Amino acid sequence: MDLKQLKKDAETGISLIKNTLDLEKWRIKYLGRKSALSLFFNSLSKLSLKEKKEQGQKANAIRQLFSSLYEKKKNDLESNLSFSSNFIDITQPGEKIHQGHLHPLTSTLNDITNSFQKIGFSIIEGPEIETEYYNFDALNIPAGHPAREMWDTLWVKSENKNGESKMLLRTHTSPMQVRFMETNEPPFRIIVPGKCFRYEATDTSHEIQFHQIEGLMVGENISLSNFKAIIEEVVKDIFKQKVLIRFRPSYFPFVAPGVEVDIKIKPKTKNQKSKIHNEWLEIMGAGMVHPDLFKRAGYVTNRWQGFAFGLGIERIAMIKYHIDDIRLFFSPDVRFLEQF
Ligand code: FA5
Repeated sequence: MDLKQLKKDAETGISLIKNTLDLEKWRIKYLGRKSALSLFFNSLSKLSLKEKKEQGQKANAIRQLFSSLYEKKKNDLESNLSFSSNFIDITQPGEKIHQGHLHPLTSTLNDITNSFQKIGFSIIEGPEIETEYYNFDALNIPAGHPAREMWDTLWVKSENKNGESKMLLRTHTSPMQVRFMETNEPPFRIIVPGKCFRYEATDTSHEIQFHQIEGLMVGENISLSNFKAIIEEVVKDIFKQKVLIRFRPSYFPFVAPGVEVDIKIKPKTKNQKSKIHNEWLEIMGAGMVHPDLFKRAGYVTNRWQGFAFGLGIERIAMIKYHIDDIRLFFSPDVRFLEQF
């Protein structure tokens, strides 16, 4: 048998093939059980050992060549088919459209501000770079006061426009209390959302940059009971489930008396169980506005009372979204954001 001629015929034949039907015919002709090559293999038994070995090797090489020619042609025809412009494979699953979403902190901030707006609070904004006066002195925390140690401060290397006060990155949103009261008469109820900065070691519940919402409600006959009722209402609205609230006596020089508020949530399902659930977590400092602040704002003595609070947004978002480590909020790991 002329193996060279067989090889030539097969190569010419396959190069002309344009569809899978013809390719199948080619396969049967050159690789099938009744193909010339198979018959050639069957006839080898009649040859001497030496010739059998020699001819067998040649025929094997040709069979391998035919197989690879066949596979290559098959792939070519299949890929031509799927890329041809008028072919649509309607069984293919659709392409997933990537949808962006709000950062969990933004959603939490929106939820909280909406809750306060529903009960008549207006939203006010204040500067992130603040004067030492509004961040500390106006809040009864003069230089050297031990309470300054509660707020490790990032100072900014410049003075304000008139060179009167050192500048800093605000350590809390409370400076807006005196700022707002200086230019507004009671009664009013406001919230001030914004970023705060502290020069402190980070851990699972402390960041150097975080968000607070300051609240301030001033009027006649305002008491801590009003504060308690409002906070209970807002917390219920944010979490849409039963939340335990605890008040602990605390000290902030700009309120009297002062409290800290902790909350605890029971997980709705077993899947919700994260370290943050079933544990008391401090979410805010609060209290009745100190009369000194009313004096600084120029209010008539003894006419007004009010409460103020500073709520940590990250802490609320951690409970809401079952996040055990506050540092994840600003991590560059996109897998964290993709879970929400
Ligand atoms: C204050 O900042 C007071 N200005 C709060 C206040 C306002 C008291 C009005 C009285 C009247 P404190 O340092 O405790 O207080 O912070 C308040 C809340 O901010 C904390 O309960 C916590 O939820 C959050 N917070 C404080 N420090 C951090 C931090 N490093 N990282 C994340 N959240 C923090």
